[in-house]
Amino acid sequence: MAHKILLIEGDGIGPEIVAVARAVLGALRERYGLAVELENALMGGCAVDACGDPLPAATLAAAHAADAVLLGAVGGPKWDRIARDQRPERGLLRLRAGLELFCNLRPVQLFEALADASTLKPEVVRGLDIVIVRELTGDIYFGQPRGIETLPDGTRTGRNTMIYAESEIRRIAHAAFRLAGQRQGRLCSVDKANVLETTELWREVVSELATQYPAVTLSHMYVDNAAMQLVRAPKQFDVIVTGNLFGDILSDLASMLTGSIGMLPSASLDANNKGLYEPIHGSAPDLAGRDLANPLATVLSVAMLLRHSLNEVAHAQRIEEAVAKVLAAGARTADIQGPGLPVLGTREMGARVVAAL
Ligand code: IPM
Ligand code: MG
Repeated sequence: MAHKILLIEGDGIGPEIVAVARAVLGALRERYGLAVELENALMGGCAVDACGDPLPAATLAAAHAADAVLLGAVGGPKWDRIARDQRPERGLLRLRAGLELFCNLRPVQLFEALADASTLKPEVVRGLDIVIVRELTGDIYFGQPRGIETLPDGTRTGRNTMIYAESEIRRIAHAAFRLAGQRQGRLCSVDKANVLETTELWREVVSELATQYPAVTLSHMYVDNAAMQLVRAPKQFDVIVTGNLFGDILSDLASMLTGSIGMLPSASLDANNKGLYEPIHGSAPDLAGRDLANPLATVLSVAMLLRHSLNEVAHAQRIEEAVAKVLAAGARTADIQGPGLPVLGTREMGARVVAAL
């Protein structure tokens, strides 16, 4: 039976990068017999415009029914000032919560051809291979109470709640320990346990599990130090596990080690490896509609989708090899441009990948 993939283009550069993903899946279907059926649904600002809701019920239902979901990106200045629960980002958060996608994998891998594209020295980043495991359905992103209120004396106050239940920490820690066990066996848990009780509990719960994974060496690091260490000596890390907010920040930081945030895919998984796949960059409204965006993070997200949710490992490898090949041959979008190499647009970069498959 054909795998059902739901495509959500979203806003900004979303339609352009998802078009490349569609072409890549089409090529795998025609050339190598990958059995997939593609469907489309709306989310984000375009869904607000079309149906008055950033996550229409039909989209959530289609996501439940699909075997996996591929998302471009959501958001843009047009929707920044509308009611908070109508904003495109809330649609994405509701989709993550609605599908119980608590486990966000953000691999940070450097393609050899891009060692010079990073703002860091090539020797610091060459061979880099990290996975950030970010908890995705808890923390200050979802904690109650939240809001902006005006106190009786007229002072406005903003409030969010950083909160983790033990069970939430345990399930993401198990996922991270298992992943580290399949890799180099080193897990670094990132928290702010010197100041925040939420993460003091995080550290305790993660530590308690370590005895169940004797092949994994667990270490702990404060988030401020982790940010510094990621820039100073990133290759010390194998797998990093952290909460929702710290994971959001550290994964953007880590993306630049690979040359560009335009290179980083992600997987957001539930307890059964069903997932939502998306590039970690946003909708880049300034690039939208201009054939400028790098489609490779989305293409690599398709590879993750095939591997993690559909168990189509050979097809995933075809994509990853095609990306390595076009980069080695000098194909570059504006964000990863190199001396003497022509700058390609989104469509042309996509065409090169499809040709290399
Ligand atoms: C990400 C993004 C999202 C997040 C936004 C768009 C809500 O920054 O996936 O990292 O903060 O999780
Ligand atoms: Mg982010």
